[in-house]
Amino acid sequence: MRALITGGAGFIGSHLAGKLLSSGWEVSVIDDLSTGSMKNIHHLKREPGFQYVIESVMNRPLLAELVDDCDIVFHLAAAVGVRAAACPTAAELRVGDLWRGWLDAHSNA
Ligand SMILES: NC(=O)c1ccc[n+]([C@@H]2O[C@H](COP(=O)([O-])OP(=O)(O)OC[C@H]3O[C@@H](n4cnc5c(N)ncnc54)[C@H](O)[C@@H]3O)[C@@H](O)[C@H]2O)c1
Repeated sequence: MRALITGGAGFIGSHLAGKLLSSGWEVSVIDDLSTGSMKNIHHLKREPGFQYVIESVMNRPLLAELVDDCDIVFHLAAAVGVRAAACPTAAELRVGDLWRGWLDAHSNA
């Protein structure tokens, strides 16, 4: 089983990734490092079944590929905090947009 964690280099996502890997899951992470850090997933890089992509979830074709290759998605990518939530891209991170992007990418395939 493979899980995709958006925002996987963040606080919750990186801990979830470690927990899933230790439970025998394969894990893919997509994170644009806007507030997350490679330090959070550095210790996971050599774990079998772990892969990561430094990119925004707004990259629809890439997101479609990642979603296709997994069994479950944990959508944790977020602009967390008042300052981050006030940025222009925060509104792009709604769950509905994630799935609309996936559907758009597939309807163009
Ligand atoms: N930490 C908590 O106590 C807590 C409690 C309740 C709910 N939550 C929710 O859980 C989620 C994750 O919280 P967290 O504390 O891990 O936050 P976090 O800021 O540590 O993690 C969010 C991650 O999303 C990434 N990200 C932001 N925009 C992105 C984009 N466009 N594409 C790809 N990645 C992007 C950031 O780089 C970061 O690594 C949020 O929705 C938050 O509201 C957190």
